[in-house]
Amino acid sequence: MKIFIAGASGAIGSQLVPQLVARGHEVVGTTRSAAKTGALRALGAEPVIVDALDPDSVADAVAKAEPEVIVHQLTALSGPPDFRHAKRMAAATNRLRTEGTDHLLAAARAVGVRKFVAQSNAAWMERTGGPVADENGRIEPNPPADVESAVAALRHLEDAVTGISWAEGIALRYGGFYGPGTGIEAVPDAVMAEQIRKRKFPIVGGGGGVWSLVHITDAASATVAAIERGKPGIYHVADDEPAPVRDWLPELARALGARPPRRVPAWLVRLLAGKAVVDMMTQARGISSEKAKRELGWTLRYPSWRTGFIEGLG
Ligand SMILES: NC(=O)c1ccc[n+]([C@@H]2O[C@H](COP(=O)([O-])OP(=O)(O)OC[C@H]3O[C@@H](n4cnc5c(N)ncnc54)[C@H](OP(=O)(O)O)[C@@H]3O)[C@@H](O)[C@H]2O)c1
Repeated sequence: MKIFIAGASGAIGSQLVPQLVARGHEVVGTTRSAAKTGALRALGAEPVIVDALDPDSVADAVAKAEPEVIVHQLTALSGPPDFRHAKRMAAATNRLRTEGTDHLLAAARAVGVRKFVAQSNAAWMERTGGPVADENGRIEPNPPADVESAVAALRHLEDAVTGISWAEGIALRYGGFYGPGTGIEAVPDAVMAEQIRKRKFPIVGGGGGVWSLVHITDAASATVAAIERGKPGIYHVADDEPAPVRDWLPELARALGARPPRRVPAWLVRLLAGKAVVDMMTQARGISSEKAKRELGWTLRYPSWRTGFIEGLG
């Protein structure tokens, strides 16, 4: 198939391109930067420079590529997390998930794309129910005020993509990425690994928030499976071991050769960094990916972060 990846130069895009090319697909991949076109070509994609927030730029690139499938992997999450300014940190990604999605959908419709696959995120599953949500679970309807716009942007993306009738629309709710290119990896200056080494990523309160994680190579292989075999709707994409922060974070620190994470009371973090971080660290729910395994035949290289942290950080 001819596949257009918006955001091909990002953490997941750069794993996805070579996996698709290895399976015989033709890939056109976007970046904003002329300096990254060589790297995209080396991965096997035909590079195209696109500003995803400019509808003409998007329409033009898609019309020229004439793809059968569009994959939306646009985010703007590079750099160290700044939880004290959660709204500012999320603003660019929110625009990519709202306006960016709409521009891509319009361009897709204009050229008769038959499948549209987009990146969503499992971090804000509704905070009621058991520790693990399946695809019937909703995104939290009443999130803390500091992430309201970010959660609304996720909802917009999911509703817009799964609501189309002129093509198959699929939203992939990914768990938290780790591994090469994600910042949680064993290379010098990896952003999140540095935070963990500097003990700036603490266990908050009891650390009972359940996170689902996924190695980036598995996130990419699930995306390939969704492109090739997915049906319209939502699929969860994470490993088989959703776990509370208090369990997985010390293991990650150990794998990175860092000292154990600090423990910080929830009230203090709420004061310093806002409610959303406390919520994520104490109330988050994990996800089950049984549907992706059952319907797409997806198998994971790292079914548990326990082995992924030891063997898969690069
Ligand atoms: N589920 C998860 O855990 C999850 C999900 C997403 C990201 N992350 C993390 O967030 C960090 C940053 O992610 P990342 O490395 O993928 O980088 P990123 O900065 O989020 O960029 C992702 C992609 O979006 C493109 N992009 C951004 N703004 C654009 C715009 N206005 N127009 C066109 N393209 C645009 C980038 O292209 P350019 O080449 O133009 O920059 C890139 O291809 C990583 O640590 C990653 O692991 C985690």
